[in-house]
Amino acid sequence: MPDQLECFLDESVIQNRVREMALQIREDYGNAHLVLIGVLKGSLFFLADLSRHLGLEVSMDFIQVSSYGMEKSSSGVVQIRKDLDQNIEGKHVLIVEDIVDTGLTLDHLKSLLATRSPKSLKVVSLLSKPEARKFETLVDYLGFEIPNKFVVGYGLDYAERYRNLPYIAILHESA
Ligand code: IMP
Repeated sequence: MPDQLECFLDESVIQNRVREMALQIREDYGNAHLVLIGVLKGSLFFLADLSRHLGLEVSMDFIQVSSYGMEKSSSGVVQIRKDLDQNIEGKHVLIVEDIVDTGLTLDHLKSLLATRSPKSLKVVSLLSKPEARKFETLVDYLGFEIPNKFVVGYGLDYAERYRNLPYIAILHESA
């Protein structure tokens, strides 16, 4: 039996919220040059949409970490798979995350990037599952709080599938 997808956030709901978040970020940063750091691969579409709504001068860089492998729960160990290309010292940095689940990844990323002396370091995440949190970590801009369910689409995958769905769905696995 194929996996069952239950639409949870449709395309227009996501797009409206991303636009609102971009407006707020723009107000907060004024004319400052911002370095957006996309956390690969899940933040792919969120970063693309958010950055186009920002209307600020931004640069983009990417970091790839792994704590999940091909599983639906975290291994508890964060590995850097791809580091940044640029030096972020003295720059305004905004980490762009797809989802904060246990908080392990973000906690680790923030500590790592803070050692590189950015001028400021903030986080924007499209989704958060507060019930799953094990590591308290601050998200400065949040799109949606969602229940503790596994979701896919709009960049989020399960074993590399479903990233290109334009909406976010709860994944009910086949028996
Ligand atoms: P954390 O370290 O437990 O907070 O997990 C963060 C990372 O796990 C995210 O950046 C995602 O890549 C992945 N993740 C957590 N929950 C989900 C989900 O519901 N669907 C897809 N990926 C998820």
